[in-house]
Amino acid sequence: MYIFKAGVVGAGTMGGEIAQVITYSGLPVVMKDIDQEMLDLGMEKIRSIYQRRVDKGKMSASEMQSKLDLVTPTLTYDEFEDVDIVIEAVPEKMAIKQAVLKELEEACPEQTIFASNTSALSISEMGAATDKPHKMIGMHFFNPAHVMKLVEVIPGLDTGQETIDDVVMFTESLRKIPVVVKECPGFLVNRLLMPYLNEATKALEEGAATAAEIDQAVTAWGMPMGPFTLMDMLGIDVCGHVGEYLYEEYGERMAPAKLFFKLLEAGRLGEKSGAGFYDHPGGESAQVNEMIEALQSAGEVPTGTLFSVERLMFPLINEAALCIQENIASLTDIDMSMVAGTGMTYEGERVGPLLIADKIGLDVVLETLQELQEALGPRFRPARPIKLRVRAGHLGEKTGRGFHEHT
Ligand SMILES: NC(=O)c1ccc[n+]([C@@H]2O[C@H](COP(=O)([O-])OP(=O)(O)OC[C@H]3O[C@@H](n4cnc5c(N)ncnc54)[C@H](O)[C@@H]3O)[C@@H](O)[C@H]2O)c1
Repeated sequence: MYIFKAGVVGAGTMGGEIAQVITYSGLPVVMKDIDQEMLDLGMEKIRSIYQRRVDKGKMSASEMQSKLDLVTPTLTYDEFEDVDIVIEAVPEKMAIKQAVLKELEEACPEQTIFASNTSALSISEMGAATDKPHKMIGMHFFNPAHVMKLVEVIPGLDTGQETIDDVVMFTESLRKIPVVVKECPGFLVNRLLMPYLNEATKALEEGAATAAEIDQAVTAWGMPMGPFTLMDMLGIDVCGHVGEYLYEEYGERMAPAKLFFKLLEAGRLGEKSGAGFYDHPGGESAQVNEMIEALQSAGEVPTGTLFSVERLMFPLINEAALCIQENIASLTDIDMSMVAGTGMTYEGERVGPLLIADKIGLDVVLETLQELQEALGPRFRPARPIKLRVRAGHLGEKTGRGFHEHT
């Protein structure tokens, strides 16, 4: 099915960006919100993304105007009677999403594809709230959507093959890279990122290192920004919601760090509220240090643990190995997604976690995970695909075969 017109519901952080991406490919889009102020902010965001292109000489002012003319901002569903796809970007609450889908069923024609930009929630559960679950799919853009190339395409249990094919083609027409991911909590990129972000926060609250030291060590290792800079950018509330949901679904290995909740209680939501792990502006925060001291003196977190980059990165590699075991995505798609979705590099090359493990040596990864498990607990328990390969002598680059083949 060719997509001639799209709808976006929710004009917040993601909705405005997604509408801009759609107009950039030349398609008209109707953008709906329930709040006029958010709708205005969404339009302003689209305008400012284009304005930056004009300022850089990449686009003329009249081209910008013709792109802006493709957006219809609205508080009603009046213009949804001929949309071929709707992407919802309303808050990350199942009840809100299901209510919006019900409204969309009334407003849209039969053939309309319903895509959700959810970061982690179940697509199958959303589909079950509609009368056409074969038309329901996840279409997970990354923030900022006008920059990030990756889009996770997530079929639910009842999604039709035609819907998957249409959304893959549509994503490519938006000049993005689609990766089809089997439905699981957090999908691929957030599922792999969360244990890493969580472990960074545990190292911080346990006094193993400061936020600035951890950020600096991780960027030196090859991530484009440190975990605390990233979480402040994503929003502590967003990270907290995703973290709690993954804990609920995967259990103890994803148990969230206590400091998240202290930040949330204090309204430190990240850059958007002027303060998160860091003060913005200002850097390291006396208030966060006091929270850490309070957690430690109340005996709520262990103390005396050590920080190493491996403590953060190896749980991410381990989670990638679990995804192999569960057939969440192919080896190459996992590596490509982490490079495109997070910008990770290793020794100056853009490589994903499974190739990094091959470069380090799977025997080294296994041994380090076992040591971390002994020191810090069962969340570091090595995944079977790592153990299996080490036992078979597939140690990575040094033996010609690990997760990948090396010639
Ligand atoms: N923020 C991120 O970095 C990010 C990244 C990827 C995916 N997501 C996902 O995108 C979705 C939206 O997140 P966000 O950060 O843009 O949220 P946001 O809070 O910035 O925006 C949500 C918007 O939805 C509007 N809204 C609320 N109820 C509505 C309704 N019933 N009908 C229409 N509009 C309604 C709000 O007024 C607001 O403008 C979530 O599912 C989130 O998990 C967020």
